[in-house]
Parts: sequence; structure tokens; C-alpha cells
Amino acid sequence: MTLNIILLGPPGAGKGTQASRLESEHGMVQLSTGDMLRAAVKAGTPIGLQAKAVMDAGELVSDEIVSGLIGERLDALGGDTSVIFDGYPRTAAQADALDTILADRGRKLDHVIELVVEEDALVDRITGRFSCAKCGAGYHDRYKLPKVEGTCDVCGSHEFKRRPDDNEETVRTRMAEYRAKTAPILPIYEARGIVSKVDGMADIDHVNDAIEAILGS
Ligand code: AP5
Repeated sequence: MTLNIILLGPPGAGKGTQASRLESEHGMVQLSTGDMLRAAVKAGTPIGLQAKAVMDAGELVSDEIVSGLIGERLDALGGDTSVIFDGYPRTAAQADALDTILADRGRKLDHVIELVVEEDALVDRITGRFSCAKCGAGYHDRYKLPKVEGTCDVCGSHEFKRRPDDNEETVRTRMAEYRAKTAPILPIYEARGIVSKVDGMADIDHVNDAIEAILGS
């Protein structure tokens, strides 16, 4: 069965962590607009050049750009591939666009999973986050260290990096953007009866178990 699910939650809620677990353990494909934009910034594409300053400030990139990226990425996948939207949609306009994007491709939204996390924990999580510079595997200074110190569990690389927008000031702006523009889209999906709330304060394995229970796997 093909699934289309949204992982929704504020910065640091664990969307990327859980989406990549679902990808590696269940063959679903993670569609992260944040990752797509960071790749565009790194490659110096016109979209990347436009997005960089906005991302560094913790504000939202234009709806047209991110919805365009999602449509392109879906077109590159087979129609029977299950997908997890991570960090998209983030505004009412993006939620509308996603409905059209999915309908045009014969897909429908099955679940919106809201990760609920206390705000104080979010700053702690984000400022402690780092990732493998080679394969992108995610870690945290306290909650998820590599098994062998200084060595990526996934690819064995010894190089790690931190995101430029993972400082406390930018995190506060990203949270304000979430409260003002993203949280208000939840009622759209609640009205359709497809929202499930998951306690994102639980440890990573328990959050994963709760999501899998919702997806029926
Ligand atoms: P994006 O990359 O989407 O960032 P975000 O939404 O701010 O989310 P994060 O990646 O910071 O957090 P996450 O929920 O994935 O948490 P993670 O799993 O890493 O967007 C970045 C920017 O791009 C935006 O600010 C915007 O400018 C732009 N952008 C992107 N999409 C856009 C869109 N649709 N429209 C417009 N602009 C867009 O976890 C965080 C840390 O916590 C990790 O270290 C992890 O190990 C740890 N952790 C995770 N779960 C747990 C747990 N249960 N317990 C303890 N620690 C945990």
C-alpha cells in the first residue's frame, strides 16, 4: 500500500530523525524541503542563492519555490513509492498546493503526524545537533552520539558539521514562524480526521514505535 504522510512539528521536534528512520527501515522516501534547500545553497543554484539569506535568518522561503521542489521530487519517484513530507507544508498556501500536487499525481494524504514537544526542549535539541559531513546522518551532543566517538555509525567518516541556522537566536525566529504560519494549518487536517498526535518528548525509539503503530506497520 502506498502511503503519503506529513510529519508536522516545530524546529527540533524530531521530524528529520523519524523520517530518516522510516526511510531506512521501511523503504519510504523522505521529502525534506529543508534538505532540498540546503542542497541548493551548497550547489549555488539560483534557488539556493535566493534561499540562503532567508534560511540563515530563520524565516520561510517562498511558497512557490518549496512547492515547486516538492512537485519535481514527486515526479522523479515511482507512483507506488510511499513518501514522508518533512518540513512541508509550512503555510496554508503550501497545504493547498500539496492537495493539488497529490491529486494531480493520483495520490492522497493518509496521515498527518504531529510531534508534540515542549518549547524549552527544542532549543536544547537544536543547539546540540550535528551531522556527518559525508552522509548526513544526524547526531546530538547528548541524546544521540556516534557509537564510536568521532566516527559516523553509517559511513565511518570522521568529519561532522553543524547547520548555520542552529544558533539560539535563529531558533527563536524559526519557532515564531512555526507558531504564526505552520501551527494554524493543523485544523485543516483535523477537520479531515487524519491528524495523530505523538509525544515527541519520549526517546527516539519510543517516538518511532508510536509512529509505526499509527502507520500500522
Ligand atoms: P528544516 O530543515 O525543515 O528545519 P526545521 O523545521 O527547523 O526542523 P529541524 O530540521 O531543525 O528539526 P527536526 O524536527 O527535523 O528535528 P531533528 O530530527 O533534526 O528547515 C530549515 C529552513 O529551511 C527553514 O527555517 C526555512 O528557512 C527553510 N524551509 C524548509 N522547508 C520550508 C518550507 N516548507 N517552506 C518555507 N521554508 C522552508 O532533531 C533535532 C535534534 O534533536 C537532533 O539532534 C536529534 O538527534 C534530536 N532528537 C530528535 N528526536 C529526539 C528525541 N525524541 N529525544 C531527544 N532528542 C531527539
